[in-house]
Amino acid sequence: MDQHQLKRQVAQAALEFVHEGEVLGVGTGSTVDLFIEALAGSGLRVLGAVSSSERSSRQLMAAGIPVLDTAAVQRIGTYIDGADEIDPRGHMIKGGGAALTREKIVADLAERFVCIADASKCVDVLGRFPLPVEVIPMAAPQLIRRFAALGGVARIREACVTDNGQQILDVRGLAITDPLAMENEVSAWPGVVTVGIFARHKARVALIGAPEGVRRLDFPQQEA
Ligand code: 5RP
Repeated sequence: MDQHQLKRQVAQAALEFVHEGEVLGVGTGSTVDLFIEALAGSGLRVLGAVSSSERSSRQLMAAGIPVLDTAAVQRIGTYIDGADEIDPRGHMIKGGGAALTREKIVADLAERFVCIADASKCVDVLGRFPLPVEVIPMAAPQLIRRFAALGGVARIREACVTDNGQQILDVRGLAITDPLAMENEVSAWPGVVTVGIFARHKARVALIGAPEGVRRLDFPQQEA
């Protein structure tokens, strides 16, 4: 099975978390594209979806799934989204598709984050994938220096303007051994809109696509 087939497999498996008549949170990326396709073909009727990007909104609307504004939704049961990396405790790196800010906003609305990913995304320690950070352009030079002081090499992602009109820094060379501490630290730097570490909003469940089938991982929300 190639990576696309593994993604299709977990996208299909995620339908188990869709309840008719509920509002669903929907993320962004190629795995989520396949999930929206599976949802559209499933006959399941959700009340609507809160979407984390213009890209997913367009796909949802094309599939006849109503896209709801956050003004109309106070709480979501389940948020389904992919990840660039996920560690053994459910912490993730996200933002490869530049949608990290809205992804964190929707994750924050949701009771439960269900991560759908192929097995290549599983790592022991986050940081092999360059960490995406959405930033206000004016702050980019000083943020690049701050990451350098932590041992990271940050570069502005070329030809990329986010749905929020900002830039993305991709930071290489960080070993993120304490994701919660790093998320808290970087989030506090002036000019950072969102850091792509999802530790405060980590996965509750991960569906991992592997050649032998879909593996389900459950993560406790409270850590010792
Ligand atoms: C977008 C994301 C995606 O979830 C992440 O990049 C995974 O994408 P894909 O499903 O295409 O592998 O965080 O901002």
